[in-house]
Amino acid sequence: MRRKPIALVSELSAGQSLKFEFLREGKRVEGVLVCFKGQLLAYENRCQHLPLPLDYGDNRFFTKDGRHLLCQMHGAVYEPTTGVCVRGPCFGARLAALPIEIARGQVWLALGIAAGQPAVGARRTEIRKRKNSQKNSGSKRV
Ligand code: FES
Repeated sequence: MRRKPIALVSELSAGQSLKFEFLREGKRVEGVLVCFKGQLLAYENRCQHLPLPLDYGDNRFFTKDGRHLLCQMHGAVYEPTTGVCVRGPCFGARLAALPIEIARGQVWLALGIAAGQPAVGARRTEIRKRKNSQKNSGSKRV
């Protein structure tokens, strides 16, 4: 299995997200790393209703209250820890989870594992260890 670094744990705090890209079978895939209640999770940035990105390119993935992930196109709402759509046109569908690993403050994308397998969340203690102030979310190419 190959791994690819996608972010530092210190780059994200609760309610923030960070987009990244990777190649799968020669095709560019966009993913998003989200931090929800101290847990890091990664999903493909693709709605389950239509093959469109969840955001409008503005890296906003959370609902205003921060409790869910949102598809901005038609308002599908997803549960952050499972990726299951709990409201909207794709009710019951699930975002494609991307497997990640956390090691020494680095978040790695585990390549070679099919999308849809459970995402691995960061341990909350690693996030608490951060010393640096939080950066704003952004886009990152890996
Ligand atoms: S494209 Fe996402 S809810 Fe319709």
